[in-house]
Amino acid sequence: MDFKIQAAQAGGLAALVSDALVLVVVGSALPSGVDKTLAGLLNDAVALGDFEFKPARCLLLHRPAGVKATRLVLVAAANGSAKAFKTAVAAALGALKPLGVKSLAVATVGGEALTAAHAEALVTACSDAVYIYRHTKPSAPADAKLASVALVAPKAQVVPLSRGLLQGQAVALGISVARECANRPGNHATPSHLASQARQLGKRYGFKVEVFDRKEIEKLGMGSFLAVAQGSEEPPRFIVMHYHGVRAPGEAKGRAPVVLVGKGITFDSGGISLKPGGEMDEMKFDMGGAASVIGTMCAIGELKPAVNVVALIPSCENMPSGRAVKPGDVVRSLSGQTIEILNTDAEGRLILCDALTYAERFQPAAVVDVATLTGACVVALGHHHSALFSNDEALAGDLMAASLSALDPAWRMPLDDEYDEALKSNFADMANIGGRAGGAVTAAKFLQRYAGKFAWAHLDIAGTAWKGGAAKGATGRPVALLTHFVLSRAAQDGR
Ligand code: BES
Ligand code: MN
Ligand code: ZN
Repeated sequence: MDFKIQAAQAGGLAALVSDALVLVVVGSALPSGVDKTLAGLLNDAVALGDFEFKPARCLLLHRPAGVKATRLVLVAAANGSAKAFKTAVAAALGALKPLGVKSLAVATVGGEALTAAHAEALVTACSDAVYIYRHTKPSAPADAKLASVALVAPKAQVVPLSRGLLQGQAVALGISVARECANRPGNHATPSHLASQARQLGKRYGFKVEVFDRKEIEKLGMGSFLAVAQGSEEPPRFIVMHYHGVRAPGEAKGRAPVVLVGKGITFDSGGISLKPGGEMDEMKFDMGGAASVIGTMCAIGELKPAVNVVALIPSCENMPSGRAVKPGDVVRSLSGQTIEILNTDAEGRLILCDALTYAERFQPAAVVDVATLTGACVVALGHHHSALFSNDEALAGDLMAASLSALDPAWRMPLDDEYDEALKSNFADMANIGGRAGGAVTAAKFLQRYAGKFAWAHLDIAGTAWKGGAAKGATGRPVALLTHFVLSRAAQDGR
């Protein structure tokens, strides 16, 4: 898809040539400065009761008189923010979806001037709307026809808005890569497949990529990760990707990197603590954290920010078998701490803890792990916010800021020591589960025990990485948040 900024004034919108003109109307009344034709159409639609100034309300008009565009979509936005703009654009694209629109022009009336954030939001909204999963579905509809999108703005804004388009294209690519990766079924998206995806990215963008197999993971001493992997015939992989965006003068090793860790359980049956059958298929998405890290590395490869990033992906299946780890088994993690596995379905933390210990060797500036970790997180926050836990206020602040600027919502959660009590074990340094209460927090407390040597944050994306029901599929979250976070770290480094 091609994106550009098209210079035009609000008064000249009716003269724009395109297959569809999307007119985002900001506020609760007809704004001034709209050309006569469009103002007339809007007023008429309101008088007829066909349009209201309410968020995401849409009206599709076909060849309206006096408008050059073949179709006109009127859509209301609650305010002038990038968030409201994105909601409005997404609604308009929904209204246009079954149509053969090749070229689109998007303009706003009312509200403040557009910003780079609006331009980025336009790109991610369009990219989301045209994504179709087809890898294992030959009958999927053909590619959307939408080929060119123009954001209409005054001439003086062309340069800053174009930057937003470029950043949006990188983020959108990362999101699509993550969605595609997570949507592929468990028999396709195996740990080895994730490794080959990482290697391909490495080739395309010049990252160094290391892949460790079962023997090498044993040699490293990742007893906790291996305990999860041992029940499956499918071989595990530990994937390490290195992006070098900056090497400070005089520093042999370069700046301390940001380390991203993604949970890569390519199927979570629960293991011996088998999950119930209903919706178990959705546990193919249990590598959503890994997919989002891969997608983020892709966006980083496109944007080449001046920052160093290491991605760590422990990946395996969680399966029951004669060789599977059992409730009550005690394993030794890479850190030396022992773990009593009381429930084999709490496997995410068991693979992540060893990856967190591995992260120590990079003397990282910050470590952020991303995981579809707990059902309790879905109960707590639903499908809107990802849960954010952190032992470092500055890091938490940067991630919350990234969440806001990326329009990828996250909500800070507590890590009080009182929650740690639940992890006591009579037979090991800790148990791998607490009680039912506060399950998302006790999972984070478990991880925190492996993150004592660096600034660390944990994103539980169990509720946000995919959608269930009729719209079942991966969302690509939180690629946008992570990309914005990494970019913000580059900007800080540059000061
Ligand atoms: N992958 C699941 C978490 C999950 C559940 C994500 C539902 C999305 C939707 C994780 O491995 C898991 O099974 N967690 C258990 C932990 C429990 C045994 C302490 C859970 O949440 O039930
Ligand atoms: Mn599980
Ligand atoms: Zn899991």
